[in-house]
Amino acid sequence: MVGAVVLDANGLLAGEGWHQKFGGPHAEVFALQTARERARGGTLIVTLEPCCHHGKTPPCTDAVLTAGIARVVVAMADPFPKVAGGGIAILRSAGVNVEVGLCEAESISLNAPYLKLLRTGRPWVHAKWAMTLDGKIATCTGESKWISGEESRVRVHALRGRMDAILVGRGTVVADDPLLTARPAGARTPVRVVVTASGDLPVQCQLRATARDIPVIVYTANAQKLEGWADDGAEVVALSDTAMSLDAVLADLGRRRFTNVLIEGGAGLLGSACDARAVDEFHVFVAPKVIGGAGALTPLGGAGIPQMADALALDRVTFEPSGGDVYVHGFAPASSREAASD
Ligand SMILES: NC(=O)c1ccc[n+]([C@@H]2O[C@H](COP(=O)([O-])OP(=O)(O)OC[C@H]3O[C@@H](n4cnc5c(N)ncnc54)[C@H](OP(=O)(O)O)[C@@H]3O)[C@@H](O)[C@H]2O)c1
Repeated sequence: MVGAVVLDANGLLAGEGWHQKFGGPHAEVFALQTARERARGGTLIVTLEPCCHHGKTPPCTDAVLTAGIARVVVAMADPFPKVAGGGIAILRSAGVNVEVGLCEAESISLNAPYLKLLRTGRPWVHAKWAMTLDGKIATCTGESKWISGEESRVRVHALRGRMDAILVGRGTVVADDPLLTARPAGARTPVRVVVTASGDLPVQCQLRATARDIPVIVYTANAQKLEGWADDGAEVVALSDTAMSLDAVLADLGRRRFTNVLIEGGAGLLGSACDARAVDEFHVFVAPKVIGGAGALTPLGGAGIPQMADALALDRVTFEPSGGDVYVHGFAPASSREAASD
């Protein structure tokens, strides 16, 4: 999530750009291309330190120097090991005036998922659920279609379209037979992930039927039960009984360089994520419907938090109408996120 602007030597806007996709040109390159000759003697303002290594694209520092930029304003240094201050040093040693730290807090917040992946090897975890006014995510018979209204479902599809993976537990595959695609497609095609220690997945379901076209990964401690899934194109990742944990799943997704993942349920998987303090960002849709039932599931299973004083009090919470529902969005408190990454 990087943006850049170029100001000409008179301080007038000459070019703008942003990093549009993984592996594609960086923000600086687009901004310099649109500014053309007006970049000479001008200023480049960018939210992340320009890169200085040959990755999927050539170093941005080369492009900045070739364009004749005189001053670079960087919001934050890039902690990526192959950059880590190197881009700033190269520009300075070439005589460019480099300032670091303008809107640094905003840039850190914008890039929080990327920074978490670099720091912990785990992706940024979004949790989403839709619940009734009486706090249920399904009826007493396990039905959950549909709790939220059309507009909320459109928002969920938009959210899916910016994820690298969408995770569900076995119970959700059994109860809902979900497809877990973004419709319409978004910027990314998320990999669909099922977490099941038992491996007791249905023989026929939409995820398995579409696994050749849209990737599916199943994490399990009973891979022998899922040979049919592998034959149908799903990747079955075998973990031992003792290694089977949500953290092991997230570590593997991090190794795949997944930055944002969305846990969509159900109560078992979301509960184990909250118990592990693994959730960074919450997206909750509350529908003004009441269904009751002592046996009807609430969003978070797991062990839970025994003392009210220890409840996760979300940061930066917003409430927005979403059709007839309310969309509540917030972040896990920093203390909880730091504890999880220790
Ligand atoms: N309203 C909503 O937003 C929403 C969204 C999704 C689902 N739902 C509803 O939620 C219900 C399903 O919820 P659920 O709690 O029964 O099932 P679930 O959370 O989808 O799946 C639970 C299963 O996932 C596996 N699992 C979860 N955490 C694990 C961990 N840390 N390590 C290993 N395996 C783990 C286990 O599978 P094994 O037993 O194989 O080990 C566990 O039994 C359905 O009624 C569905 O309709 C509602």
